Amino acid sequence: MHKLAYKIIEHSYDVIVVGAGGAGLRAAFGMAEKGLKTACISKVFPTRSHTVAAQGGVSAALGNMGEDDWRYHMYDTVKGSDWLGDQDAIEYMCKEAIPAIIELERYGVPFSRTPEGKIYQRAFGGMTTHFGKSQAKRTCAAADATGHAILHTLYQQALKHQTEFFIEYIVLDLIMEQGECRGVLAWCLEDGSLHLFTAQMTVMATGGYGRGYFSCTSAHTVTGDGNAMVLRAGLPLQDMEFVQFHPTGIYGEGCLISEGARGEGGYLTNSEGERFMARYAPSAGDLASRDVVSRAITLEINAGRGVGPDKDHVLLHIEHLDDSVLAERLPGITETARVFAGVDVRKESIPVIPTVHYSMGGIPTNRFAEVVTVVEGNPDAVVPGLMAIGEAACVSVHGANRLGSNSLLDLIVFGRAAANRCAEIIVPGKTIKLRQQDACEPALARFDKIRHAKGDLLPSEIRLAMQKEMQKSAAVFRTGELLRQGVENMKAIVSSFDRVRITDTSLIWNTDLVETLELDNLLAQMRVTIEAAYNRTESRGSHAREDYPERNDKEWLKHSVVWLQEGQIKIAYRPVHLYTLTDEVEVIAPAKRVY
Ligand code: FUM
Repeated sequence: MHKLAYKIIEHSYDVIVVGAGGAGLRAAFGMAEKGLKTACISKVFPTRSHTVAAQGGVSAALGNMGEDDWRYHMYDTVKGSDWLGDQDAIEYMCKEAIPAIIELERYGVPFSRTPEGKIYQRAFGGMTTHFGKSQAKRTCAAADATGHAILHTLYQQALKHQTEFFIEYIVLDLIMEQGECRGVLAWCLEDGSLHLFTAQMTVMATGGYGRGYFSCTSAHTVTGDGNAMVLRAGLPLQDMEFVQFHPTGIYGEGCLISEGARGEGGYLTNSEGERFMARYAPSAGDLASRDVVSRAITLEINAGRGVGPDKDHVLLHIEHLDDSVLAERLPGITETARVFAGVDVRKESIPVIPTVHYSMGGIPTNRFAEVVTVVEGNPDAVVPGLMAIGEAACVSVHGANRLGSNSLLDLIVFGRAAANRCAEIIVPGKTIKLRQQDACEPALARFDKIRHAKGDLLPSEIRLAMQKEMQKSAAVFRTGELLRQGVENMKAIVSSFDRVRITDTSLIWNTDLVETLELDNLLAQMRVTIEAAYNRTESRGSHAREDYPERNDKEWLKHSVVWLQEGQIKIAYRPVHLYTLTDEVEVIAPAKRVY
């Protein structure tokens, strides 16, 4: 029936990259550069991808502004991850950071400069030298618009290497046959046509899912579409309980005020004017890792020391910084604070509150970017034809808590790793013929059902219920009871999608349908996130359970992997990689985190 209703245009490539943010572009032009016929499919114009919003910088132990070593970077990342990060992958990322940033510089990223002309590096939370002894300056910055600078440069490289773009195409689903990914089905917004892309490798670079929450720093497009496609393909997501709150979102708006503000000398105060971080992190203070600072702010508010009429936020001060620092290093947040908080940062403090910023969890992969799953006791079974990179992936280099500026690094290092792996394993020009005539049917059936949904609930009503539930039940602090209720409420919210109503059934630029497809994607991920959070009965990194306040390495030093099939949740585990790739560094044994 659907094949008659929808005409499908077919394309054949060596590789398809879904998503054109930092990871997608770095992978796509890397593949094109290596002679692979590469398509990059994106729901937004590439330079509008959410990487453009990254502010503070990208980490690499270049040592331009003081002594540094990639081994210190690795130690900080393992500790920041609360030991849930895979140490082989972290070693790879921290070591590769140095050539990867030099490569970015040569591609033309306009980094800020030191007086001697080197790449400028600022202090960021949790980044130290000598294994925690002193603050490192490791975060390479292009003022406070580093993501913007990198994304535009990568897009130019992609054009130079003749990557073929399919822009404003909504990828609907993976096309899977006998456990292998064979390509994707996509919908072109401009003319309403449907497209089947087949390839030897499909790379998901579809970003995080911040929009599942009510208050987040993410663009409205950050709906984790790739994660949801992986769930629908019968594959699991990993460590979804770990959702990062950035300590300094603008109160009431959620827009990001970069950690770079504290890296340049900014600090937080409570209603008593106290620099309270000194109590929570005597050594690192305002530059402790994000989970620590977000919890400290929440505890201050809960203790009645928040500011404002409702005592429900704290203040970030940068008014003491030199005008030249604000103009040269923090021009973007100066503007953001003026527009969204009505604050002149030269004279006033900025009202801030922890705000959802990043998903540590995602599609499980190995360090070559290949998607893995658990099959018959093998926790590292590679899914043929499928890769994931960037925030969509869980490599896992961030474990239970990501350090600021390790995200842009992850995009670049693993985008490049994916390109290198494809160059090794793909045979240029070999076409993929689908074995089953009806391989696209499940994807078409879902699309058609949602397109013609005639229930009594608006997508916006269901979305708001979901976002408020997540904000309430899976926030900075969690309790078993809140999570238990959250699980039940989320099941009901997911079921309410059966009553969704679409008012526009057209196929050309139908934003009603786009938002409803995205909502469906978010609902599946929120269900998995809240179930995983309820299941993990310990506190680790961003997952702080009031009823289980301690980290429990004996029972929980493991990744959780969660499937969602026909409404049923299944949970299994993968071991954390407590081993290194080389003998250049030793395994960092689990220890208490002190900042
Ligand atoms: O605070 C920031 O500039 C954000 C950086 C990051 O999430 O890596």
